[in-house]
Amino acid sequence: MVIGENMNVSNAYMNKLAIDSLSISENDCVLELGMGNGKFVSDILNKHESVKYIGRDFSDVMVAEAKKINAEWVKGGRAKFYEGVADTLSWDTKTFSKILTVNTIYFWQKPEIELREIKRVLTDDGLFVIGIRPKDIMLKLPFTQYGFKLYSEGELKNLLTKNGFSIVSTHLEQEPPFEVNGQEIELESLISVCSKQH
Ligand SMILES: C[S@@+](CC[C@H](N)C(=O)[O-])C[C@H]1O[C@@H](n2cnc3c(N)ncnc32)[C@H](O)[C@@H]1O
Repeated sequence: MVIGENMNVSNAYMNKLAIDSLSISENDCVLELGMGNGKFVSDILNKHESVKYIGRDFSDVMVAEAKKINAEWVKGGRAKFYEGVADTLSWDTKTFSKILTVNTIYFWQKPEIELREIKRVLTDDGLFVIGIRPKDIMLKLPFTQYGFKLYSEGELKNLLTKNGFSIVSTHLEQEPPFEVNGQEIELESLISVCSKQH
């Protein structure tokens, strides 16, 4: 699937950063919101044999593709994929020790709703990692004018702290050069690692 594959090439670097920031450890139960085609699920599950993963995405095409790419993990009972939006999560309170979402918040029209749900299903000592490209970088890309909600580092921090999260660490990193329409574009990944405010 071309859309999924293009997303993977440009997003591999930031997904790796975000996954490393999750500090995956034994028995972690990981939820990813908007995993796309799930190309990076192995990078999570290979961190420890006891880790379990659930991915949720509102695109049926992406869910089908993720199930196909991760068929072995699904068969082995370590990965599950569900179709659905991120603003109503159908899991019990404090189900997940780690929650991840990369390049998705731009599509959340009222992100406080998604953040409330994320906080609800995260364990008290769990970590929530969010990865985005900051506003100044996104504005250089040709497609971001179409309804994307963009955040600078400060705006993301405000959003998270206003909605019940404490920032554990923030990483702003330059990505390897990337070409769009024959033009080289400088990309940056912004990764925020958060815990619940108690
Ligand atoms: C730009 S892609 C990013 C995919 C992957 N996380 C990555 O970084 O390569 C955004 C994904 O989030 C999904 N998505 C966007 N908004 C969503 C929402 N509100 N609920 C669930 N999935 C959503 C889209 O279907 C798409 O697969």
